[in-house]
Amino acid sequence: MTLAHPGPQLADALTIVRLSLHVFAACVWVGGQVTLGGLVPTLRREAPQVLAGVARAFARLAWPAYALLIVTGVWNVAAVHASQASSAWTVVFALKMVLVVVAGVGTLVHQRATSPSLRGAAAGVGTLATVAALVLGVALAG
Ligand code: HEM
Repeated sequence: MTLAHPGPQLADALTIVRLSLHVFAACVWVGGQVTLGGLVPTLRREAPQVLAGVARAFARLAWPAYALLIVTGVWNVAAVHASQASSAWTVVFALKMVLVVVAGVGTLVHQRATSPSLRGAAAGVGTLATVAALVLGVALAG
């Protein structure tokens, strides 16, 4: 006999707090990179003198968001009882961790690079890795 699908259920309060913090931090980290990337050509054209200050101001928001992603990510792992996960979940999780590291290192290299080509390449790699980590996060949440 096949059981009927139970239908959508509300998350409990602690899950709402945990996932809201994780998703909020992802919004700031990912959304900020995409938005700033979109604004840079206009800033470079209209107000090149403010570009470095704007980038520094964004870094002051983005790195705390990245730290919050890691802290709430560890909380996620504990809350979902990852040790009992399927092997597919574990593989996707491991891949996501690699992408999180690539995203962080890519962003750091982007900030520190002095050559424009390295700066651009690192930004591209960092942003792609971040977006891929986000998609795998959605897959993990099921
Ligand atoms: C660039 C960094 C990261 C991004 C953009 C990101 C993004 C996401 C997103 C969008 C979700 C789906 C949430 C939902 O649908 O409710 C998620 C879930 C998840 N993330 Fe992350 N995440 C990041 C870092 C991490 C880290 C560092 C860890 C572990 C240390 C982690 C562990 C998890 C786990 C276990 C879930 C599933 C949670 C559940 O099923 O309740 N994430 N992530």
